[in-house]
Amino acid sequence: MAEVEKQVDDMKIEENKNDEEEDDVNPWSVVSKSDKGVDYDKLIKRFGSTKIDQVLIDRIALLTKQTPHRFLRRGIFFSQRDMHRLLDRVEKQKPFFLYTGRGPSSEALHLGHIVPFIFTKWLQDAFDVPLVIQLTDDEKFLWKDLKVEEANRLAIENVKDIIAMGFDKDKTFIFSDINYIGSCSEFYKNMLRVQKCVTFNQARGIFGFVDTDCIGKISFPSIQAAPSFSSSFPHIFGNKKDIPCLIPCAIDQDPYFRMTRDVAPRLKYPKPALIHSTFFPALQGAKTKMSASDPNSSIFLTDTKNQIKNKINKYAFSGGCATIEEHREKGGDCDVDISYQYLTFFLEDDEQLEKIKQDYTSGKMLTGEIKKVLIEVLQEVVATHQENRKLVTPEIIKEFMTPRKLKYTF
Ligand code: TYM
Repeated sequence: MAEVEKQVDDMKIEENKNDEEEDDVNPWSVVSKSDKGVDYDKLIKRFGSTKIDQVLIDRIALLTKQTPHRFLRRGIFFSQRDMHRLLDRVEKQKPFFLYTGRGPSSEALHLGHIVPFIFTKWLQDAFDVPLVIQLTDDEKFLWKDLKVEEANRLAIENVKDIIAMGFDKDKTFIFSDINYIGSCSEFYKNMLRVQKCVTFNQARGIFGFVDTDCIGKISFPSIQAAPSFSSSFPHIFGNKKDIPCLIPCAIDQDPYFRMTRDVAPRLKYPKPALIHSTFFPALQGAKTKMSASDPNSSIFLTDTKNQIKNKINKYAFSGGCATIEEHREKGGDCDVDISYQYLTFFLEDDEQLEKIKQDYTSGKMLTGEIKKVLIEVLQEVVATHQENRKLVTPEIIKEFMTPRKLKYTF
């Protein structure tokens, strides 16, 4: 199938500065100008990616013989780069691998963090491909007020949550930058190659670095770029340099990969393909994403049933009206209602979701009622996760994190 994607100079596009009117979306903060949240269509234009359309979704369904994941059906994964080119390879039975990651800045992940992991798990099962997961404990050491040992400890804590998502041990390699990079010269060589291709001026344009930023931050993007290249993992891919990857992530991580895609051809490596999600919003409303640094904005995977109930009842922004009478008459606004937004991410049943939308919009369903549905759904998601996490032993962690051959032949 012909790839109808814009051939853009990735590096030039991202150097366009944010003006006052635009949402601020970067790897470290997401702030929208509107109550409805980030304007994703505008963001696609600004970043130069491509909207995911029904043609792509149908093609994925055809090739995987799977019902598309609810994140695809509902536009939660909404943007992509080079997906058709990747699927052309799948059609020819040529391999690819998946690459995703986590910056371990907190003990517990929140529900937003698991969105890309849920989808990555689905992609791994649907395409039956190997996966590498990078834990950027070095990034968090550089950016946060954390000791290097503490950042490394958080990485291992977070690995438990990641393994609990159900990844296939035989096909998944999880690594902490602090532990892996020193032991793999091929990874380090790729970091160096990337570092040599990107000037300080370009890095400043892409990431907004300022003169007072430490030099560790300025070279860090090369570390997040390196796993995009198969030669960074000789234990998995041998000496193959030409196996492309697909990176599922929220769109805040795109600057790293615009840089990577710009550099790749100069290193004679394939460009990584990307598939981007929207943000799981903060409880207080879609102006910002859920963030680990504000506990009241987030539901964590460590929260108890009661904490989940209380946070939703107290903080979840309502699109309902001020009084029951007014609500019955005018109905609620699902576009800004956080309970409805959260259900689009976590309620599997399309028909039930549609009925909730109709009933809430018409005023038949009240804010307390939609919150009750959400509380039950999220209590179940978090409780199941906590059960799975209990089963993750130190031996299992060690297996996932040991550089080794994966059960996949290239
Ligand atoms: P981190 O730890 O900030 O986030 C981990 C993953 O979760 C996504 N994410 C969200 N998705 C939906 N809604 C939210 N509210 C939300 N908050 C975060 C992020 O986009 C990310 O996919 N530097 C990265 C770690 C990393 C990485 C990667 C991520 C290294 N290599 C490759 C993705 C792909 C970071 O700090 O992610």
